[in-house]
Amino acid sequence: MAEIRAFVCGHPVAHSRSPLIHGHWLKELGIDGSYERIDIAPSDIRAFIAGLPGSGFVGGNVTIPHKEAAFETVSRRDGEAEAVGAVNTLWIENGKVCGGNTDAIGFAANLDDRAPGWRERDRALVLGAGGAARAVVHAILSAGYTRVDITNRTRARAQELADLFGARVRAHGNEAVDTLLPAADLVVNTTSLGMDGDVSLPADVAALPDHALVTDIVYVPLETPFLKAASERGLKTVDGLGMLLHQAVPGFERWFGKRPAVTQQLRDLVIADL
Ligand code: ATR
Repeated sequence: MAEIRAFVCGHPVAHSRSPLIHGHWLKELGIDGSYERIDIAPSDIRAFIAGLPGSGFVGGNVTIPHKEAAFETVSRRDGEAEAVGAVNTLWIENGKVCGGNTDAIGFAANLDDRAPGWRERDRALVLGAGGAARAVVHAILSAGYTRVDITNRTRARAQELADLFGARVRAHGNEAVDTLLPAADLVVNTTSLGMDGDVSLPADVAALPDHALVTDIVYVPLETPFLKAASERGLKTVDGLGMLLHQAVPGFERWFGKRPAVTQQLRDLVIADL
């Protein structure tokens, strides 16, 4: 049988850790397959996706800045892509390009893995309202939370996001953070604060209840200043690396036919590359 080929496309794409993750799984599972990195300019992404049937690829991942263009270009989308408004995983079915989104699944699987019981909680506070926040809010609502508060520097953006989801989700400006913290069972930082050496904190962890679970979708550094402050305050924290690893699982299984595991060995491999 011919080698099974998949890819990640982005612009730039050199920073993507997906080839490392999928390459590790291909080797571990002994699959005759490859996972390539392809840089595609925004002007070329639609033609690239349209040309996938017959290209030799069984599918691939889509990363920044192509997730919205992929959403618009595919012939069919799964429910996760519809809910998140973006496509990060492509595959071909009956000669048509299909798109899914695994970001919310990855977010939830990371918490299932590292903080079992997170689904039994009620109220979440999501800091930030960018593209990543939409997947996070969808995941939290799917887990059954009764209330999600979104705070954002630009309140209008939080409102736009909340409007996509209905009555369980409320929008606020950042000035509301301090009053929302004492009621939060789960806090998720989706802002870029704390990334790459930035020391600013998106919220003051002192006001959180003792049982609060704190997570960050930023994973460079692995322990963000926000997670460090929460941990020093004695709170349970979960870093964002697991979301990256878990979001890769459904695509791999679809293309290569075997479900891969997120192991400590894989985590260590990716950490060494951060
Ligand atoms: P992504 O799609 O990865 O979530 P994004 O769309 O650029 O990235 O969103 C980044 C988030 O970080 C936004 O919520 C942004 O707030 P605005 O919507 O007001 O821009 C937030 N953010 C970035 N820098 C910030 C800062 N210095 N202070 C507060 N929030 C910040």
